[in-house]
Amino acid sequence: MQKVAIVGAGRVGETTAQVLAQQEICREVVLIDIREDAAQGVALDITQMAPLFHFDTRLRGSSDVSAMAGADAVVITAGVPRKPGMSRSDVLEVNVKVVDDIVDAVLRHAPEALILMVTNPVDVLTYRAWQRTGWPRERVLGQAGVLDASRMAAFIAMETGFSTCDITTVVLGGHGDAMVPVSRFCTVNGIPVSQFIDDERLAEIVQRTRDGGAEILSLRKISSAYDAPGAAVAAMVDGIAHNRCRLLPGVAILDGEYGMRDIAMGVPCVLNLQGLAEVIELPLTESEAEAFARSAQGVREDIGRLP
Ligand code: LAC
Repeated sequence: MQKVAIVGAGRVGETTAQVLAQQEICREVVLIDIREDAAQGVALDITQMAPLFHFDTRLRGSSDVSAMAGADAVVITAGVPRKPGMSRSDVLEVNVKVVDDIVDAVLRHAPEALILMVTNPVDVLTYRAWQRTGWPRERVLGQAGVLDASRMAAFIAMETGFSTCDITTVVLGGHGDAMVPVSRFCTVNGIPVSQFIDDERLAEIVQRTRDGGAEILSLRKISSAYDAPGAAVAAMVDGIAHNRCRLLPGVAILDGEYGMRDIAMGVPCVLNLQGLAEVIELPLTESEAEAFARSAQGVREDIGRLP
């Protein structure tokens, strides 16, 4: 992949750019921010890491959206983050306006690109971008599940002491309080995690995963999470850019999968150069399916609030 544009040079945008550059996932990263000079500052700062980490990815910052021209992927991180005590849905009204303008800029300047939504509430705004562009769902995705699954894996590693390399987790549903970590599918190198963690502790880890973003926010106080979110976005871009056919959780428009359509939700996605190659349907138990439906209900309510 040649060029990735990141709109929003706040903390998530910055961390994403840094990981993309450090791992040379693409040739060029363009950061765009409406704050005059802010994106240039971030780009220059990361560029000055290059001699230390030996990467050749070029970085550029701009306050002009036309700098995204020719981008293969546009990552949208711009918008306001929630404050302590707020839910992700509470920032919908403000962020939909921000995202609409950016999506219009993508239509004008990077009509061949793929959109990767990060701004919250991410499920609803991924849906919004899909509607507004009229593009096939392959090219409009959102990041949430990679982060949530990584959080859950980190908690399982902390609990068991096993290497995070060996831990696989599955988190489905909307990126909100009703997200659905599916512990039945979580393993330590193929061995069900229930062999190492009892039901009660596992339930606590599931809840801590659901509250993962709020926990960071309550500790950081002046900012929500950005290190793991930025790395999660970069992991999705990596799967796409290198045509890896990675099976990662992503926010996708459902088209009959899980018995749903006309909604964006977190589901296992196969990612390749086209973007979304396939949505994988998992056989869910009755209670898992109920939890998934509850989470979908929340996303639908927020979609109903879209102007
Ligand atoms: C979180 C925010 C970024 O989960 O949604 O930390």
